[in-house]
Amino acid sequence: MKRRFYIETYGCQMNEYDSEILAGILSSQEYVPGSGPEDADLILLNTCSVREHAEQKVHSRLGELKALKKKNPGLRIGLVGCMAQNLKADIVKHKPYVDMVLGPDSYRHIPEYLHSDDSPVIDTDLSKYEVYDGLFPSRREGVNAWISIMRGCDKFCSYCIVPYTRGRERSRSPQSILDEAKRSAEQGFAEITLLGQNVNSYRSGAFRFHDLLKALTEVEGIKRIRYTSPHPQDITEDLVKVHAACRPRIASHIHLPLQAGSDRVLRRMNRTYSQKHYLQLVDMIRKHVPDMGITTDMIVGFPGETEADFRETLEVMRKVKFDSAYMFKYSPRPHTRAAAMEDDVSEAVKSARLTELIALQKEHTLYRYRKMIGRDVGILVESESKKSPDEMKGRTSCNKIVVFPREDYRPKALIRRRITDAQGVTLFSRPEG
Ligand code: 5AD
Ligand code: SF4
Repeated sequence: MKRRFYIETYGCQMNEYDSEILAGILSSQEYVPGSGPEDADLILLNTCSVREHAEQKVHSRLGELKALKKKNPGLRIGLVGCMAQNLKADIVKHKPYVDMVLGPDSYRHIPEYLHSDDSPVIDTDLSKYEVYDGLFPSRREGVNAWISIMRGCDKFCSYCIVPYTRGRERSRSPQSILDEAKRSAEQGFAEITLLGQNVNSYRSGAFRFHDLLKALTEVEGIKRIRYTSPHPQDITEDLVKVHAACRPRIASHIHLPLQAGSDRVLRRMNRTYSQKHYLQLVDMIRKHVPDMGITTDMIVGFPGETEADFRETLEVMRKVKFDSAYMFKYSPRPHTRAAAMEDDVSEAVKSARLTELIALQKEHTLYRYRKMIGRDVGILVESESKKSPDEMKGRTSCNKIVVFPREDYRPKALIRRRITDAQGVTLFSRPEG
């Protein structure tokens, strides 16, 4: 008899992809996707540990699932992903109703765990080699397919838990990536997004990240290629030249986490670049690809961040004027080097700095979006607009959402239209007059 599974995903795109891999593995067993947690025999929470808040959300979700298990004692609950790796067996000490604790490198073994009599099942071994080759994602309909090309991180930014939850860097073979891209095209996906915790440190012998990007432009049927997230240290001029040469197939968008603007904080964060190096990278990128969308991640309130350091961050933001940014308050994470530093910026100061950063970024976002008005741009059509059935939405190469009249447009078509307006984080292309 078929049993039903339900997966809830928290955190980054790699987790989205991993949940598709998990769905693929379960579907190869006696499981079928259920419609929700209530009718499931197995619930997996695929979790994130990047900030404390991400973990708190899952703790409270587990509390709700405990109640569900009381009603349905046959239900099995699995905690998988980064939080499982971070908390390991500790989680079952406090939450004995959790049946499985599986780190990100253990998914290949799930079939045996499903049939094991052990309770709980705990596997948080990290592997030097696991790149999920031969495991196939089970995907929903859509425009974009995620493809993981490397895993793990060797950078050890002092605030970041990822090297401890995802282990060391390892890259997949070019052939298996090309095969997955071809399969994605055959399944009807128009766009692929290459994923890695440090995507541009990809390498397979002498074959580097920019070689891979170039090779992928040859895959028939893929209209757009994106990737996330790169590290500034591994951005090369060769990579940016491939962007310039392979437009529009390679999207003109780079997500380039800056994190902080002052060299003192960057050093303490172990980011391995200086403010000057970062600004030179931005100049080099804009020289080769003037319309490149550049987005970023920022952290405020890192240990020891002074008012002067924070002002420098604002100054760098003003120089770059990012298209958009994810902005966070520093959150101490276990195992990391920064956790041993005194978390000396008060919560009130962190909040005030975050508010100021968000306000400045809002100005820059508006500036970048308004600059698009009057331009003819390529738009990959995604779906009906949420607000009106008479309109569709799609995405520009530089990763901005555009709303435009439905006409005869179908999802996955690459169309050209003129931008007529910008409001908030939406561009519009509407008949003028
Ligand atoms: N506290 C706050 N933000 C963090 N990030 C990573 N670790 C932390 C932390 N300890 C942010 C960084 C990273 C993004 C994914 O999350 O900005 O780029
Ligand atoms: Fe969260 Fe980082 Fe793990 Fe992704 S890799 S789930 S962002 S902790």
